[in-house]
Amino acid sequence: MRWADFLEQQVIRFPEPDRARSRRELRALAAAYTGKSTGFITTAPDWILPAELQQRLAEAAAAALAGKPWAYVFGSLPFLDHEFKVDNRALIPRPETEWLVDALIRAHRSHPPRRILDLCCGSGCIGLSLAAAFPESETVLTDVSREALALTAENAAALGLSERVACYAGDLWAALPDETPFDLITANPPYVGREEVLDASVVDHEPHVALFSDDGGMDHIKRILNDLARYMNPGGCAAFELSHLHRQSLATFLEQKFNRDDYNWELDASGVARFLWIFPKGRKA
Ligand SMILES: C[S@@+](CC[C@H](N)C(=O)[O-])C[C@H]1O[C@@H](n2cnc3c(N)ncnc32)[C@H](O)[C@@H]1O
Repeated sequence: MRWADFLEQQVIRFPEPDRARSRRELRALAAAYTGKSTGFITTAPDWILPAELQQRLAEAAAAALAGKPWAYVFGSLPFLDHEFKVDNRALIPRPETEWLVDALIRAHRSHPPRRILDLCCGSGCIGLSLAAAFPESETVLTDVSREALALTAENAAALGLSERVACYAGDLWAALPDETPFDLITANPPYVGREEVLDASVVDHEPHVALFSDDGGMDHIKRILNDLARYMNPGGCAAFELSHLHRQSLATFLEQKFNRDDYNWELDASGVARFLWIFPKGRKA
């Protein structure tokens, strides 16, 4: 069958709002499966598709049609400068997270951190991007999920970073082997309250351990902040991706724990408070 005919046959199965995306993703998959350039894929309507390739692409389209997120269908995702393997062992990295890591890299360019910690690492997109950006650093990544941590290790190997990163399984700080402090601590912890309703494409496919947190979505971040100062070098910095609801719901907790000048909320691209930055030199007793 001609490529153009096959592609339209698949795309037409999707509801109208999803067709442009499915066309784009199927083109990218065809390029990835064959090694052909995207230039060729987009300009070769008469290319005759081998039967095996037709079957592979049709299976991928069927999985997406059944609700599987395209990133899982594809099996990898670009995140800043690198491609990360993603599957249902970990959350699909989000654009907000890319934004946070980009900001962290820019903030530390003139004084690179020597020791970096990514708690709740999932695919490893945060910690491994930082490790790659700061080649002199040592980076520690932790996750309570051994499956997610295995994915992080695979991504570390694919990026040639295995020698410079250490991965530990366990509950937040308890995963660390000792109390050697860090210059940069970051996390995108689970932060969705258990009562919140999420889109089926998220809740039916992504690991719930990556999404939900008790105490209205604040349990993980409160436990992280409770022990933050113990693991932070003087002059160190911490930054977290959180829910847009937390600026308000965490306000009293933050006021009790830190001086007002020691933390700062930053907005994401949609204009809501998403990132909590902390410089805890003035931590309250
Ligand atoms: C929102 S995902 C973030 C994944 C990745 N850092 C990212 O930004 O795409 C949260 C991660 O925290 C992990 N996690 C959940 N509870 C945890 C805990 N108590 N201690 C450590 N990690 C935990 C989950 O397994 C999941 O990988």
